[in-house]
Amino acid sequence: MSSTTSATTEKLLSVGQLAARSGVAVTALHFYETKGLIQSTRNTGNQRRYPRAMLRRVAVIKMAQRLGIPLAEIASALAELPNDHTPTAEDWRRLSARWREDLNRRIDEMVRLRDQLDGCIGCGCMSLKECPLRNRQDHLADAGPGPHLP
Ligand code: FES
Repeated sequence: MSSTTSATTEKLLSVGQLAARSGVAVTALHFYETKGLIQSTRNTGNQRRYPRAMLRRVAVIKMAQRLGIPLAEIASALAELPNDHTPTAEDWRRLSARWREDLNRRIDEMVRLRDQLDGCIGCGCMSLKECPLRNRQDHLADAGPGPHLP
């Protein structure tokens, strides 16, 4: 029984160990936990303990953050995985494919905003009706950047 307990204990990481092995600050790990991205248990001394599966979850979180994926979306994606489940290569393929689509959408949006900004440079009208960057409904966007109303 003690060997089972010992083996179980060896599989759990303190927050310091998780930080050292993942390269993520302890404060960031606590933040992830408050947002439900990672989960811990408490030992008898009421200290947080993390299963080793959290190492790959933290890796996924950091990679997704580099892609600009909002934490809420990361949490939603990770919620599909059991807490003690180490994200597999197949999990990563599925998540990265989803996030690639999101990244492409944001790139398209940034290109559109850049093109609209090109029309604003040197204009200065900042008109709610004429400026595509101020026009929330964007009903003039199809006409291209710059003022279009008389
Ligand atoms: S400032 Fe944007 S179109 Fe004039």
